[in-house]
Amino acid sequence: MTTATASRSVVVSAKGAARWQGGHPWIYRTDLYDEPRDAPGIVAVTDRRGRHLGQALYSPKSEIRLRLLTRGREPIDAGWWSERIAAALARRTGIPATAYRVVHAEGDGLPSLVVDRYGPYVVAQLLSAGLEQARDDVVSGIRAALAPQGILLRNDAPIRRHEALPLEVVSAFGSVPDTLAVEEHGIRYLAAPHTGQKTGAFLDQRENRVLVAEQSGAGRALDLFTYHGSFALHLARRAREVIAVDSSADALTRGRENAALNELANIAWREANAFDLLRELERRDERFDTIVLDPPAFAKTKQSVPRALAGYKEINLRAMRLLTSGGVLFTCSCSYHVNRAVFADMLADAARDAGRRLQLLAQTGAAQDHPELVNVPETGYLKGALLRAVD
Ligand SMILES: C[S@@+](CC[C@H](N)C(=O)[O-])C[C@H]1O[C@@H](n2cnc3c(N)ncnc32)[C@H](O)[C@@H]1O
Repeated sequence: MTTATASRSVVVSAKGAARWQGGHPWIYRTDLYDEPRDAPGIVAVTDRRGRHLGQALYSPKSEIRLRLLTRGREPIDAGWWSERIAAALARRTGIPATAYRVVHAEGDGLPSLVVDRYGPYVVAQLLSAGLEQARDDVVSGIRAALAPQGILLRNDAPIRRHEALPLEVVSAFGSVPDTLAVEEHGIRYLAAPHTGQKTGAFLDQRENRVLVAEQSGAGRALDLFTYHGSFALHLARRAREVIAVDSSADALTRGRENAALNELANIAWREANAFDLLRELERRDERFDTIVLDPPAFAKTKQSVPRALAGYKEINLRAMRLLTSGGVLFTCSCSYHVNRAVFADMLADAARDAGRRLQLLAQTGAAQDHPELVNVPETGYLKGALLRAVD
């Protein structure tokens, strides 16, 4: 086991130091005076007068050069990681699900580290070059804090390209099965840790699924962009009929398996482009009592925001038109570049064009095990709105 006490150091500008003072853990390339420029890893960070500012993950090829780990000088070894992961776990007591996020990277003070627990297994992501260098200690820390039967590293997130890291899925300890059964507020579904999106399931929507199900009625429901059917399963416990839609046939196959697992026979699985289907449903004058819109991130970059907003507006406007009077729409965006204010404006615009009066029942974010830091906007990406038609 390595003991990664920082032996190399990086000197940062007053502006860089001020970012850490203000609680933001990143320092950019342009705010460095002196850096080793060689291998990534853990470094000591000082200001120009040689004052110690802390220790950080160092990524020599990334625009985000430094990610703060600690303001202290203590060794960052397996024991350090284990303590921090155990502390993050302690903040998550009482989650009524067998799968949840234990470490949400910057949101938990462990930049670029994601640790998701699926019952006795762990699926983790190391998303910076500095962290990748500390892989052995991090894996030892996860083992010590969580005692899992297996650890899979889903290091195939495209963001690793910014760090000049390979995209790979590798086992770090023991073995993790191809499918894992998740129990979430009385619903069971199968996650796909090796091949599924994110670490195998959309754990960030767990609380939103419960919220929508609580507000939904016994009528018809439409779950657009359903993936493995997680919203549809929750809705089907109350609704007479649920139509679950995705453009991926593979995702729908898993959805059907999940419905069988819960003995739910009232979900119709439809392979379709949601944009086309919404138009078709409108033409046929269909109505739904509950609609869920959980599309993929339409805006992957700042430049693509205007186009993304046109897409968000189109699906929301059409979904609003399909709502019964008293019907409920849960709509969300996981595009980081579309912030809450812009999302709210888009919804207002869509409601105006749809000519519907919609109450805002709740504004939501990701589940509590995916915490946002108020002064680090990069930690927030998912925003949702629960609306009820009252005309
Ligand atoms: C964010 S995921 C949905 C997650 C899901 N609601 C859950 O809670 O697990 C987005 C899904 O949209 C699907 N998708 C992407 N574009 C689509 C389109 N134009 N029409 C229908 N489905 C689409 C993807 O296959 C993916 O399964």
